[in-house]
Amino acid sequence: MSFSGDSRIILGITKNPTIRAHTGRAREAAEHRAQPTDVRLGLIVRLFMEHATVVVSGTKIAEEISSSRSEVWRLIQQLRGLGVDVAGHPATGYQLRSVPDLLLPEILRPLLRGTIFAAHLHHFYKIGSTNTAAMAAAAEGAPEGSVFLAEEQTAGRGRGANSWQSPRSTGIYCSVVLRPALPPSEVLTLSLAAGLAVQAAIQQVDSRVKADLKWPNDLLIDGQKVCGILAEMNAEATRVRHIVVGIGINVNQASFPKDLPATSLRLVTGSDWSRVELAGALLKSLDGEYRQMPEGADARESILRRFAENSSWVVGKKVRIEENGSAFEGTTEGLDARGFLQVRTPHGMQTVLSGTVRER
Ligand code: BTN
Repeated sequence: MSFSGDSRIILGITKNPTIRAHTGRAREAAEHRAQPTDVRLGLIVRLFMEHATVVVSGTKIAEEISSSRSEVWRLIQQLRGLGVDVAGHPATGYQLRSVPDLLLPEILRPLLRGTIFAAHLHHFYKIGSTNTAAMAAAAEGAPEGSVFLAEEQTAGRGRGANSWQSPRSTGIYCSVVLRPALPPSEVLTLSLAAGLAVQAAIQQVDSRVKADLKWPNDLLIDGQKVCGILAEMNAEATRVRHIVVGIGINVNQASFPKDLPATSLRLVTGSDWSRVELAGALLKSLDGEYRQMPEGADARESILRRFAENSSWVVGKKVRIEENGSAFEGTTEGLDARGFLQVRTPHGMQTVLSGTVRER
């Protein structure tokens, strides 16, 4: 958890401010210039999907999106650039050859009916970081439930000083804006709930795949990282203004650099996953977890209990903790009432507030 705002009242999991020095001014400026994807692209894809088996004329598309035929041609070229397989040309009309796996609002929205995430979906073909964009939008008043999705991030951020590799249309890069009525001291529970939501979404799409929850914010399969969560908060002493929960899932990557202990859902199962289906399942699952949160201590206890039940890291794991430039070793002994990790050491019980947890 990173913090920005008036005060840093609780210790978080990482202490870095929202925008880190390494990001660089030029890159930040580029991020703020990132343009959301032209909504007409989504409208065209939806039109194609509604007429899946027929050729749609350029004139019909132009009418539907209130543009000229030459503009339609330009947009079709853009769609092809995004990897959408469209047959045809202006003289013959166009037809979709296969349903595209793009996280366009027009494709995702029908899956999110009834959730807090259906109304404000923002899609970017390319952006610096969806978390940076969501934090900036939240500071300017973006409503709760706003979602920022990108096909590609050029400056994806991880916890600490880490970056998050975000190649085009292979992973899910998603940040949501939340405005919970929680004191900042209880916010860790929310980010643990996000991990539960990812775990459930993956299992919903393929029941054979159960990722392990590594406290606080990683999901691993066979010890390799498949998902990371970066929660950033803007808070006053007693009140959270907004939280951005950023989720990166390795979905269809075919390989990773040798020195990166990472995997993807495709590498684990041997076949491509639908990012649309997984993103839909993820946001629905997150909606379910989030709606329970205001229900008080019971809901929070349920999150901590379920996290512990679904994680091999919370009890009985021999770990090394690196925190604030120092390190200690011990065995995990559960979570405290706020969700912090308890580690039994030769010098007594230690509470891990932030830092890196490694198996030893
Ligand atoms: C970590 O494990 O270090 C956290 C990784 C979080 C990556 C996601 S991808 C979407 C969102 N935008 C970012 O820049 N980071 C998060």
